[in-house]
Amino acid sequence: MPDSRGDATPHRMTVDHPWFSRWYVRTEQAVERAVGDARRAQNAAALGRTLIVGAGTGLDVPALGPGATDVVLLEPDATMREILAQRYPALRLVGEPAEAMRLEPGSMDTVISSLVLCSVSDLRQVLDEILRVLRPGGQYLFMEHVANPRWLASAVQRAVDPLWHRMGGGCHLTRDVALALAESALQPDWLEPVHRGGLLPVIRGRATSPGG
Ligand SMILES: C[S@@+](CC[C@H](N)C(=O)[O-])C[C@H]1O[C@@H](n2cnc3c(N)ncnc32)[C@H](O)[C@@H]1O
Repeated sequence: MPDSRGDATPHRMTVDHPWFSRWYVRTEQAVERAVGDARRAQNAAALGRTLIVGAGTGLDVPALGPGATDVVLLEPDATMREILAQRYPALRLVGEPAEAMRLEPGSMDTVISSLVLCSVSDLRQVLDEILRVLRPGGQYLFMEHVANPRWLASAVQRAVDPLWHRMGGGCHLTRDVALALAESALQPDWLEPVHRGGLLPVIRGRATSPGG
């Protein structure tokens, strides 16, 4: 079954994956060949105080448009944080997991997540936290890889997922992000496929915090 919740043990916040983090740096060019255009289109829309959740090695930063201000990078993995601190010393960097952000309620105009919801321990809790830190009317921009709705691809994803999870820094192939968003109190504005096929179909979209 596609998973709109998260791991069976929510809040099992094992977020340090040094081997994966060092490997991810070496895959950056391949990642950007696959999703760079979608990332630039997504981040061009960032406006105002902007939080990047699960910032990783910081690929979202150069893709930000001029409207993004007061950028905060949230990254719980220590190795990723070292890379971020070297690459973007001027930006505010915080180290808690997205399930338990220490940011003030309503303190962000834009929240961005790129290829992150696959790895969080508790997907619903993360969406609740994103809603909490967004001001009313603030926007959540997401680009995420998701469960494949086609039965054969879905079966392959589920078969591969346990090993993938172990090798991929806690990543799951089977997250139903669209369903989790629909079940959250965020208001989905639009959602579109970036890549449809195989193990790693990618969607992107925007949801808004109610009010404002
Ligand atoms: C595949 S990397 C993507 C990094 C970056 N967003 C990008 O697009 O290149 C997944 C990132 O999510 C982070 N992550 C994992 N669990 C997290 C959590 N509970 N809260 C916030 N970030 C998390 C990882 O540390 C890692 O940096």
